[in-house]
Amino acid sequence: MRISILTIIVALLVGCAEPQVRDDDMAMTAATSARWAASCALCHVRGEGGAPVVGDAAAWQPRLAQGLDVLLAHTVEGYNSMPPLGYCMACERSDFEAMIRFMAEVR
Ligand code: HEC
Repeated sequence: MRISILTIIVALLVGCAEPQVRDDDMAMTAATSARWAASCALCHVRGEGGAPVVGDAAAWQPRLAQGLDVLLAHTVEGYNSMPPLGYCMACERSDFEAMIRFMAEVR
């Protein structure tokens, strides 16, 4: 039987992603991590346009002070140079919540 390349790729991805999966709702699952890497990371790794950089607690502190609901609203609706949905059309509210907590290092 011929094993397709796609099957191998999927198997590799699942294998690599496994350790990131935690069981609480807020966790960056493998799927959420992939979405983050394909969207938010474009700006939030280097701080494009003044975006708060991932893991920079000092940059995130005043943002977190607004409350998670405000941050979620700004993610969905956009905020200044922050584009609506952060370029992630497939993201769910739970993805955004996990991404924000991940970037701001809220555990
Ligand atoms: C095109 C670049 C870009 C992308 C892509 C992007 N952001 Fe942003 N983001 C920004 C910029 C710039 C700001 C700062 C906006 C400001 O404070 O004026 C920002 C700010 C934020 C804030 C803080 C908002 C506030 O009220 O302080 C959150 C939360 C956020 N981004 C989440 C995300 C998430 C989640 C994703 C991916 C789904 C994402 N961003 C993708 C550019 C981006």
